[in-house]
Amino acid sequence: MIILGIETSCDETAAAIVADGHRIMSSVVSSQIELHAPYGGVVPEVASRAHVELVNPVVADALGEAGVELGDVDAIGATYGPGLAGALLVGVSAAKALALVTGRPYVQVNHLEAHLYAGWLEDPELRSPLAVLLASGGHTLLVVIRGHGDYDVLGQTVDDAAGEAFDKVARYLGLGYPGGPAIDRLASTGDRDAFAFPRAMPGELDFSFSGLKTSVVTFVRRNPGAPIADVAASFQEAVVDQLVSKLVAAADEHGAPTLVLAGGVAANSRLRARVADAAAATGRAAFLPPPELCTDNAAMIAATAYYRLASDGPTPLDAGVAPALSLT
Ligand code: KG4
Ligand code: ZN
Repeated sequence: MIILGIETSCDETAAAIVADGHRIMSSVVSSQIELHAPYGGVVPEVASRAHVELVNPVVADALGEAGVELGDVDAIGATYGPGLAGALLVGVSAAKALALVTGRPYVQVNHLEAHLYAGWLEDPELRSPLAVLLASGGHTLLVVIRGHGDYDVLGQTVDDAAGEAFDKVARYLGLGYPGGPAIDRLASTGDRDAFAFPRAMPGELDFSFSGLKTSVVTFVRRNPGAPIADVAASFQEAVVDQLVSKLVAAADEHGAPTLVLAGGVAANSRLRARVADAAAATGRAAFLPPPELCTDNAAMIAATAYYRLASDGPTPLDAGVAPALSLT
């Protein structure tokens, strides 16, 4: 079963070919980072226009790299939410057009569910239940997964998403956009114990990052001479402390033998190291998808489409997009 996946929910135009829900034959990601960088964040109209220009060449590249013809594709999946409405429409329209010309089914995919599936792409034999931390630019969720399509949200952020906190602090520190990778790089040269930024602990399995962000901004304003690498490392450690402690608490509560990271923030090197340590210390397995499967990509969309097609069947071609879609 060969599936073409298309992802255009934000600032990445991506297409991938995945066989049988887990074998990645190609995964092409065209990033618009340089287009949006001058604005310090994603400009929706700029993103939509870039997706329109990029979607056909990116799909052609994905087919070419996989060595398959359009006629070999058994189904076409695309992200229908959450995300920017205009951006989502480009990918969904492209997928429907391809479904129409090939006579193959169209499958709508929830972007958040797809991030959860990135784990299965690498290792379809993960031992469940899985305790999953899904941390991206727009969401921070703790999820317990018992099987395909069988999951519950245990907790989430009460204010900013973890990636949003990275992006906002990076912008304040003048590190540019996107902030997560910039802070990750700089933090590796700094002292993570230099400054004790607060570890917010809202509801048991919920997260909060907005107080931390304000505390970093206030600290830098009062201490303009503080080494910026130390600020970055101390901020990152405060975020990671909160993420890891809640992930382990969720695994404890649900008897989960496997810890899984998902979403763009899962590319963070310190978070990956700390989750690996936490798993080893508690006799669990840690599943850390490679960074290119953590950030937005279409392989996760194609993999999810495979399982959704099996459980729900094809999506009608008059289905729309859902910019505010949630996981459950
Ligand atoms: O999942 P993703 O690619 O897009 C969304 O669905 O949001 O996540 C993007 C987020 C951004 O906030 C970015 O700064 C963050 O993931 N990110 C990182 C790293 N790489 C990406 N945050 C911390 N460390 C990183 N290495
Ligand atoms: Zn994402």
